[in-house]
Amino acid sequence: MDQLTQKISEIGVVPVIKLNNPERDAANLAKALCEGGVPVAEVTFRAAGAATAIRLMKEACPDMIVGAGTVLTTAQIDEAMAAGAQFIVTPGMDPELVAYCQAKQLPIFPGCTTPTDYHTAYKFGLEVLKFFPAEQSGGLDKIKAMSAPFPMFKVMPTGGIGLKNLGTYAKSPIIAACGGSYMVKADLIDGQKWDEIADLCRQSVEIVKEARNG
Ligand code: 3PG
Repeated sequence: MDQLTQKISEIGVVPVIKLNNPERDAANLAKALCEGGVPVAEVTFRAAGAATAIRLMKEACPDMIVGAGTVLTTAQIDEAMAAGAQFIVTPGMDPELVAYCQAKQLPIFPGCTTPTDYHTAYKFGLEVLKFFPAEQSGGLDKIKAMSAPFPMFKVMPTGGIGLKNLGTYAKSPIIAACGGSYMVKADLIDGQKWDEIADLCRQSVEIVKEARNG
């Protein structure tokens, strides 16, 4: 596992962010996440201005790990990289995008849920996959079943994860980190509830720590 992925895995949770107003919110959000002990973010290209958000978050918290999510094209990879993105997340397994990132030595976590996805990832020598959408695809039971033929992978499940089931996932040695939007919901961001966001991060870190140590 490369150093950056190792750091993400140590943090244990990855907030999945959609920012509608990056000029207003990106810096405050970055500070809130760091304050809460979660200095990592997947900024999705679901909102226009994702690249701006990535740039502003890195400027506000230079040590934070900021990546781009919901990446669908090589043009978005270029845009994300130019803004300072340190990793790429794609919702599905797209060999073209994986090859493109590997040529640039940029970590990529493609969304995988099937044996075919995993097999493609294996051929690329990937070590960590996004497992998406996690709960809807069978959750931890499916992740464990997939690990039988493919024990070389660790996964970052995302989709349907919250404080209630974070610990269950985090306990499994197959899990590198859990992704989720529950600590960065639109109402929290629009309401500028930075303390609440930091608190949800703190709770998440605590849950992961307990799950891993227990
Ligand atoms: C993602 O893109 O990773 C998911 O949409 C986040 O899923 P969640 O909103 O259920 O956490």
